[in-house]
Amino acid sequence: MNKIAVFASGSGSNFQAILDAVEEGLLQADIQLLVCDKPGAKVIERARDHHIPIFTFVPNSFESKAHFEKEIVNELKRYHVEFIVLAGYMRLIGEVLLRDFEGRIVNIHPSYLPAFPGKDAIGQALQANVSETGVTVHFVDSGMDTGPIIEQVKIPVLPGDTRETLQERIQKAEHRLYPAIINKLLQKDIIGGIVQ
Ligand code: GRF
Repeated sequence: MNKIAVFASGSGSNFQAILDAVEEGLLQADIQLLVCDKPGAKVIERARDHHIPIFTFVPNSFESKAHFEKEIVNELKRYHVEFIVLAGYMRLIGEVLLRDFEGRIVNIHPSYLPAFPGKDAIGQALQANVSETGVTVHFVDSGMDTGPIIEQVKIPVLPGDTRETLQERIQKAEHRLYPAIINKLLQKDIIGGIVQ
């Protein structure tokens, strides 16, 4: 199991970390496809630079989530993708993708879940004035950041932290953690927490 697709909507710094880890031999995976729901996103440039096939789409131009997810599933099958990595994909995964891939979809979230799920987890942590937050990698189910947790690290919130400084500390941890965990899951053939 090493053919993966990465789903992203934005800058793609985690996508870049995954690409770099593959190129350095730290992550044994073939990135078959980038799936992106924002045709202008920076992550698309990164994929292009590395000659990774891209499937980009405009969600509003489809009748429903089921319709665009069917298209995504077709693309994933075309590339024989076995495992999906969400890296800043800003939408809930629907039943069409879950039907074929549940247990084989992971996500990274910038908080120590179950604290601060959903949008702007970093802003939520600052607002709550906590002394630490974190990063969580989890399997994806139909909820908002609710799937089984695979691994978490704690990150301190320091006095005087701004959104930028905290985000930088969190992303540094993400870039180290995510490729390593993906590699472990793929090498041990772990689907939905169960070794196959
Ligand atoms: C990351 O912080 C990740 O935890 C969250 O979205 C952000 C994506 O950042 N799910 P990037 O596009 O990988 O830079």
